[in-house]
Amino acid sequence: MTNKELLSIADKAMENAYAPYSKFKVGAALLCKDGTIFTGCNIENATYGATNCAERTAIFKAVSEGQREFEAIAIVSSVSGETFPCGICRQVMAEFAPELKIILRNEKYEECIYTLMELLPKSFSL
Ligand code: THU
Repeated sequence: MTNKELLSIADKAMENAYAPYSKFKVGAALLCKDGTIFTGCNIENATYGATNCAERTAIFKAVSEGQREFEAIAIVSSVSGETFPCGICRQVMAEFAPELKIILRNEKYEECIYTLMELLPKSFSL
């Protein structure tokens, strides 16, 4: 699975985004260590607060299906440039995969790779 392939799976997942309030659509594709891929999109709610981000949709789908070991996540959105995961999603990622690879795409359509450790150093843990 190449980074490009994972990004294009995230593109496809973004088509299902439910974002009538922000109009900001997000798609994610989560690659598990065994090669399985779970996709996610953002799902907004009239209360705003009940909105779920694309990344957490993908992670929760995976965990609820018995997966807990993740290699990489590709994230795309309907605006040009890198879409970084929000703080809550970073903390959820840290719960399962502190060494997760995060694949984004910049305005020139180039892949940008980060580690979760770069984006969330010193995460909270119990
Ligand atoms: N959103 C995501 O899906 N992922 C992020 O990492 C940032 C924000 C969604 C939530 C909401 O539906 C919209 O983007 C605007 O915040």
